[in-house]
Amino acid sequence: MPTYVTTPIYYVNALPHLGHAYTTIVADTYSRFRRLCGDEVRFQTGTDEHGEKIAEAAAKAGETPRAYVDRIAAAFRETWPHLAIRPDYIIRTTDADHIRTVQDILQQVYDRDDIYFSEYSGLYCKGCERFLTEKELVDGKCPDHLVEPKPITEQNYFFRMSRYQDWLIDHIRANPDFITPERYRNEVLSFLSEPLEDLCISRPTSRLTWGIPLPFDANFVTYVWFDALINYLTGIGYPDGPDFTRYWAAAEHVIAKDILKPHAIYWPTMLRAMGLEPYQRLHVHGYWNVDATKMSKSLGNVVRPRELVETYGVDTVRYFVLREMSFGLDASFSGDAILARHNADLANDLGNLFSRSLAMIDKYEGGRVPERPSGGTLTPDDRELMSAMSAMVAEYREHMDGFAFHRALQAVWEVIGLLNRYIVANAPWELAKHPRQADRLRTVLAFLAEALWKITLVLGPVMPETATRMAAALGMGERFAAAVIDDAVIWGSIPAGTVIGKVGPLFPRVEHKTEPAAAAKQPVKQEAVAGPGEGLIGIDQFKAVDLRVAEIVAAEKVAKSDRLLKLTVQAPEERTIVAGLAQYYNPEALVGQKVIIVANLKPAKLMGIPSQGMVLAAKEQLADGTERLVVATVAGPAAAGSRVA
Ligand code: ME8
Ligand code: MG
Repeated sequence: MPTYVTTPIYYVNALPHLGHAYTTIVADTYSRFRRLCGDEVRFQTGTDEHGEKIAEAAAKAGETPRAYVDRIAAAFRETWPHLAIRPDYIIRTTDADHIRTVQDILQQVYDRDDIYFSEYSGLYCKGCERFLTEKELVDGKCPDHLVEPKPITEQNYFFRMSRYQDWLIDHIRANPDFITPERYRNEVLSFLSEPLEDLCISRPTSRLTWGIPLPFDANFVTYVWFDALINYLTGIGYPDGPDFTRYWAAAEHVIAKDILKPHAIYWPTMLRAMGLEPYQRLHVHGYWNVDATKMSKSLGNVVRPRELVETYGVDTVRYFVLREMSFGLDASFSGDAILARHNADLANDLGNLFSRSLAMIDKYEGGRVPERPSGGTLTPDDRELMSAMSAMVAEYREHMDGFAFHRALQAVWEVIGLLNRYIVANAPWELAKHPRQADRLRTVLAFLAEALWKITLVLGPVMPETATRMAAALGMGERFAAAVIDDAVIWGSIPAGTVIGKVGPLFPRVEHKTEPAAAAKQPVKQEAVAGPGEGLIGIDQFKAVDLRVAEIVAAEKVAKSDRLLKLTVQAPEERTIVAGLAQYYNPEALVGQKVIIVANLKPAKLMGIPSQGMVLAAKEQLADGTERLVVATVAGPAAAGSRVA
């Protein structure tokens, strides 16, 4: 099946920031997902280069509009590979074929009598490049750009948008998926419950020359939105390109809520006037905010995606934005939040699972995926894992298709957690000690390999570079290049005997710094708020601490120290922690206890022994003035490795 995925074409009046990156990562991820499902996908992004705003930005930069747009458009184009974004086509509204198409369409709509000449007065927001209604203003200002719109009265050409109002209402009502999530569909329907005005589609050349001339009146250029929306057609060869009809019938636009109205109202009515079917689906997301304010170039509070990539790596950035934002709602960016996701979800949960599974296959099976012994009975654990894997793939597909990326990833991370527990419960290192457990060991390792391959497949669209490395390490590199989602459905898709390779840490830990993007982020003016008391921390700061349940499997005194114990814990991966507990506990008394550790503490050496983490303990003040340490434990059964939060 064909699928056509688009992003907005971005204004070239500033460099790309995390907001632009987000939409484009979403479109890229969705495109890769559809390809994994076997679709033929065309993914398009681009730049919007005409209009008042751009002409002004060029003047401000002391460049001609042409030189200016070339420079900024190139900066957008060069950003995408750094984010592993691979569009099939990048359109520019200054492309000759686009200009020709816009003029053809204008002429056609004019000939149908859907364009007329008249006078208009209204309030224009240059940031939005459109007239705003009184209702849209907050305290007399545009809520997105925080400036008062300018009253303009002039003679212009108008598109008879009002003519298509009833048709549009019917279409939205008849197609529940046309605008999603539902809140935006409702917003559009509510807007359409009042009479729709016609759309002013020209600017006199006395005021603006940086635009496409109207084919029927050389004293006017085309209004930037009428020009911009048509990019979605030009890019696939409208009107007679070989693929136009196929792809247009499968168009899905991705935008943020700032440009809902042009996409949900102007665009379908324009298409109707051209005698074309509307697009299939419009996916609308919320804003990335910084300190509760929309991240935007006009406010200057932007985070640069490339700097995040330098700190965390491309796949952490992709994972973070998709996992952190519920598609449709606003999300808040903070350096602490991305750090926490990187260290906890990626380095710890996924990275450790992968490397220790491979290390065990290497150690116990000579680096080959073992054959699952025939006749070996499956344990309840095995069955749970199998059914959890297939439930995960089903959920993943449903949520990816519905643009609920955070949910899809949640489902994947649930099975990652399950796998970590499966390892602890089955303790391959114990099985390896007993020759009569050899079959069981092989089953466990075969299941791990199988599960990791499935996880690799579903992570491909979100984290293409990591998934490629995982596939190569699993010996499935070639298969991965041509993978289909069904490989993740069938149990047994990684052949026995596959030779696995070595892999370094998938996500090297990043140490805590204050605001990794601080350099890229200019401070926003913040209103004084009646603040929380000093010493309080935000939830993000708390989340940055990775607390885990750890089972102490061995404990011994550290030679030449009367304070330190060397503990071996499973959380669920094995690690050594040196703790100052010797005066309060006999080592034997600690073995078997489930304690709480800080799992993402910088490693340190104590008496020459590397310690990875810290055991939490209460410091009790005794009546005689001395202190006693009591380790913190969990009150009920909780698997080693469970997160404490
Ligand atoms: O509107 N959070 O271009 P634009 C999330 N040229 N997404 C954000 C964002 C934020 N804080 N800031 C920007 C235009 N975006 C027109 C579009 S389409 C035919 C013409 C993303 O440069 C989001 O996708 O202002 C938003 O819709 C888009 O950038 C606006 O980009
Ligand atoms: Mg904008």
